[in-house]
Amino acid sequence: MNARSYTPLQITLHWLSAAVIVWALCSGFLVAFADLAVATEARISALNVSLTALLTPLFALRMLLAWRHRHQRLHAPGLKGALARHAHLGLYAVSALVLLTGIIMMDRQIRIFDVISFAQPVTDPALLTLFHGIHRYACVVLGLLVTLHVAAVLFHQWRRTPVLRRMWY
Ligand code: HEM
Ligand code: HEM
Repeated sequence: MNARSYTPLQITLHWLSAAVIVWALCSGFLVAFADLAVATEARISALNVSLTALLTPLFALRMLLAWRHRHQRLHAPGLKGALARHAHLGLYAVSALVLLTGIIMMDRQIRIFDVISFAQPVTDPALLTLFHGIHRYACVVLGLLVTLHVAAVLFHQWRRTPVLRRMWY
């Protein structure tokens, strides 16, 4: 790692989690609001539970690495740098909330690609409804944060600040 970039493991985990999160957001809202065939909904839902459950420990590792490398000085001092750091903190916090509430709200076994399965952690119907509500609203906030994040990256690239290079090997 040099002082101006992320480590290869941080970069790999960033792109892996970005792919799963963008897919889960788009397909999750499609299942919730579009009129899809029941079999298609079930297939997407099973895939999303598997992918996001697998992502959960990897995302925890990603947050741990971000904390360990918290002295990386990648952003300029001042207001712009502080905004970027807070936006990133928001992305970590809301992603973690979405992952945790997703697991807690499961009303059935958590099956990962039909290979491993875990019992649902909560069975009380009122709590399941509560956590589904939190999951849904946290997903809306995460969608907004990700849109802002991608817009900020594109804006910086356009202004010729090569932020994408930092998030590449
Ligand atoms: C960052 C990760 C995640 C994202 C972006 C995400 C996204 C979404 C979205 C957009 C919805 C539709 C919201 C609605 O019902 O209106 C949804 C529903 C759902 N999510 Fe998540 N989710 C994530 C993690 C998880 C996890 C870890 C689990 C459980 C292991 C989970 C289980 C579910 C379930 C059971 C539903 C209800 C609909 C269905 O059965 O597909 N999610 N998720
Ligand atoms: C899919 C399009 C995405 C692109 C093009 C992208 C690009 C980037 C780039 C270039 C950086 C480095 C920015 C800098 O150092 O100032 C970055 C950092 C970051 N991205 Fe993304 N990203 C994307 C998706 C996501 C998603 C879905 C998340 C959700 C968790 C995310 C979370 C983060 C976080 C938390 C950081 C800061 C890492 C740290 O400093 O610890 N990104 N991203």
